[in-house]
Amino acid sequence: MKIAIGSDHAGYDLKEVIKNYLIEKGYEVVDTGTNSRESVDYPIFGENVAETVAKGEADRGIVICGTGIGISISANKVKGIRAALCTNEYMARMARKHNDANVLALGARVLGVDLALSIVETFLNTEFEGGRHERRVHLIHNIEQLKL
Ligand code: RB5
Repeated sequence: MKIAIGSDHAGYDLKEVIKNYLIEKGYEVVDTGTNSRESVDYPIFGENVAETVAKGEADRGIVICGTGIGISISANKVKGIRAALCTNEYMARMARKHNDANVLALGARVLGVDLALSIVETFLNTEFEGGRHERRVHLIHNIEQLKL
């Protein structure tokens, strides 16, 4: 499985930890930055990961900022992206089972490293349940076609 990962400065340290963890586990990882703790704007990095996933250049994405909020909002603006901000394993499991989330958002200032890695594991190893949830995900997709 190929994973795109990106963060702002607040998420940089956690991004590096998660990236190395995934590489060690045998995942192919596309790192779309940022590449230091220097202050940057999270929407750019949320968009980069989201576009990589939306184009099919990665199977799943992981986005990280201080709270996970700004970067998840940004990723969700890209068509085809269902980014889920998760603070525990249960949310990560349900984000996959019920929402078919294709991007995981994490808050580096909210989570400890061990919990963050456990959330990542759960997110990557849980399948979409389909069935009635398929219809609901399709309804989400319909909202993207809305013309105001
Ligand atoms: C950066 O200070 C911070 O605002 C950002 O990482 C994130 O938490 C925004 O939602």
